[in-house]
Amino acid sequence: MQAPDYIFQATADGSISLLEPSLQELYHNRQGAYTEALMNYAAPTLALLALPSVKVSCFRLLDSCFGLGYNSLTCFDSLLSFRKEGSAAGIKGFSIKALDIDYKLCQTSLPLVLRQPCFKQIASLSWLTGQSFQPGITFDHTHDDLHFQSTFSECDLRHYLKNERKDTFDVIYHDPFSPRKVTELWTLEVFAAYKQRLQPAGSILTYSSAPAIRGALRQLGFHVYRTAAVGGKSGGTLACLQDLQDYLPKLANVIMPLSEEEERRLRTTSGLPYRDPELSLTGEEIRIARLKEQGQIKDG
Ligand SMILES: C[S@@+](CC[C@H](N)C(=O)[O-])C[C@H]1O[C@@H](n2cnc3c(N)ncnc32)[C@H](O)[C@@H]1O
Repeated sequence: MQAPDYIFQATADGSISLLEPSLQELYHNRQGAYTEALMNYAAPTLALLALPSVKVSCFRLLDSCFGLGYNSLTCFDSLLSFRKEGSAAGIKGFSIKALDIDYKLCQTSLPLVLRQPCFKQIASLSWLTGQSFQPGITFDHTHDDLHFQSTFSECDLRHYLKNERKDTFDVIYHDPFSPRKVTELWTLEVFAAYKQRLQPAGSILTYSSAPAIRGALRQLGFHVYRTAAVGGKSGGTLACLQDLQDYLPKLANVIMPLSEEEERRLRTTSGLPYRDPELSLTGEEIRIARLKEQGQIKDG
């Protein structure tokens, strides 16, 4: 499938992804764009919402690198399935703040994404279309007693974090390209800015399992867990403001403690976070400063 400027590619579960030509990176896990959205984002979110300690009636989600929209759409689809089974009835509202630097991508890909079999349930909702995500326009619809709201902001994530401080969220999805390539979006300061916007039992979910990312989240006081592995990858990360220790047996296979090996790596210099005090440095400046801190290169 091909659209102007974008190179679509099928992933192993049949769902479509895109190739980012300058970074030579796929937008999703090769094992499946949909599978990744389900395992690393939607399933842990629904598991958290079902916890007795989490009392959310209007669920607010920030999807900070919205891209083709898989993570938000899969979450909404899973929530509808839960409600059909009689769960999550206490949730009366679902709001998505979608943010991405590239609105044209979203506009081009959402109709294609929604047409896939994995989104059969939500594609049957005639009111949910690509038009539900338009820059600067708040979209509202009530469906089966559930109030759905979405807004799209076309902007750079660091610009948003520096300039928009009033929104708060229950869960934040963090899905930029990889830390090694887009380091400026993976710093301790980005996660600190998220923390300021989280509700008291709020969480951050990301596909990355890099020690530098988990180290940053731990330094900020989050409880850090692992989400299920997709393909050869070692699982993503859930950073939670509440301690889930007592719930872990119930959350098995969806949210898990870090392994001993993962804990050991966090205690080495691999666990040192990337730093960007003013949210203004280039990725290269951030990587070099961390290498110096790790003692891998000398000053000067
Ligand atoms: C890995 S893809 C996200 C995939 C997406 N979550 C999905 O479900 O399809 C990374 C996204 O980050 C966006 N992006 C790149 N730089 C950004 C920035 N500085 N601020 C916000 N978004 C950015 C890209 O446009 C791209 O859509």
